Amino acid sequence: MSWVPVAPVASIAPGDHATVELDSGFVAVFNLGGEFFAIDDVCTHDGGGLAGGAVEDHQVICPRHGARFCLRTGRALTPPAYEDVRRYDTRVVDGVVEIRAAPCGA
Ligand code: FES
Repeated sequence: MSWVPVAPVASIAPGDHATVELDSGFVAVFNLGGEFFAIDDVCTHDGGGLAGGAVEDHQVICPRHGARFCLRTGRALTPPAYEDVRRYDTRVVDGVVEIRAAPCGA
């Protein structure tokens, strides 16, 4: 399975995020204390983008109606979202953050 470059590590500061477009849609990539987590940039409640959501304790909060998703697992943690989001493996190669081109478990 191939890997897709997202951005240089230095351009995604801790607490910040980036997005990258795959054939299947946009993926949001979060830097939490130097660890990178990637999930679909689409809330399973009503399609809101998750990249701009606040992050607390490894959870992203959908800006539209407040559903929380675990960035480690993609699990939907609070209503109004009940379906998990897909997550992607990440790695850093030569100073560039990459994500696997297919979601985990695909
Ligand atoms: S679109 Fe995300 S909680 Fe409604």
